[in-house]
Amino acid sequence: MSEKPPVLISQEEIESRLRDLGGEITRDYQGAELVMVGILKGAFMVLADLIRFVELPLRIDFMAVSSYGMGTSSSGAVSIIKDLDLDVRGRDLLVVEDIVDTGITLDYLMRTLKARGPSSLSLFVLLDKPEARKVPVDIRYRGFEVPDRFIVGYGLDCGERYRELPYIGVLEEG
Ligand code: IMP
Ligand code: MG
Repeated sequence: MSEKPPVLISQEEIESRLRDLGGEITRDYQGAELVMVGILKGAFMVLADLIRFVELPLRIDFMAVSSYGMGTSSSGAVSIIKDLDLDVRGRDLLVVEDIVDTGITLDYLMRTLKARGPSSLSLFVLLDKPEARKVPVDIRYRGFEVPDRFIVGYGLDCGERYRELPYIGVLEEG
């Protein structure tokens, strides 16, 4: 019950990877009107840590989405629970997501955001689970590739538990 899930990716590995990717973002977005959009709830921790390594003036916003029929349909039925506060037309949008699994959520989200007329639209994902992909997703910045297992910690939950873990862990099967 109170046992901690085993470590898949340590706190130190996460920090080092975010430092590198933050440096890349800093170089890539010189002079841009960067808006970083965290997808709630899972991306709250990675967004907060990543922006410490992005040495640029930027704006932060959040969206919350919920997916229906995942695993049983690829209809792409996704609903927006909380929309952006900012008008993103003419801005450079970088969406920050915790994990891409089937890709259905992000496929919908990226199409929705593109329709709002940003100057550019790119995607940062902390974790990529390529084996589970059903819809292709164009990832510009990728933290780590992970196996097709249930991942928790560092923002990711299982029934709203484990989000607070400072590392990325894996739930034991069965
Ligand atoms: P997709 O639409 O299947 O790519 O689903 C993406 C969403 O499902 C993520 O934003 C997570 O909230 C959730 N998710 C997918 N795989 C995992 C996992 O291994 N652990 C925790 N959440 C997951
Ligand atoms: Mg999520």
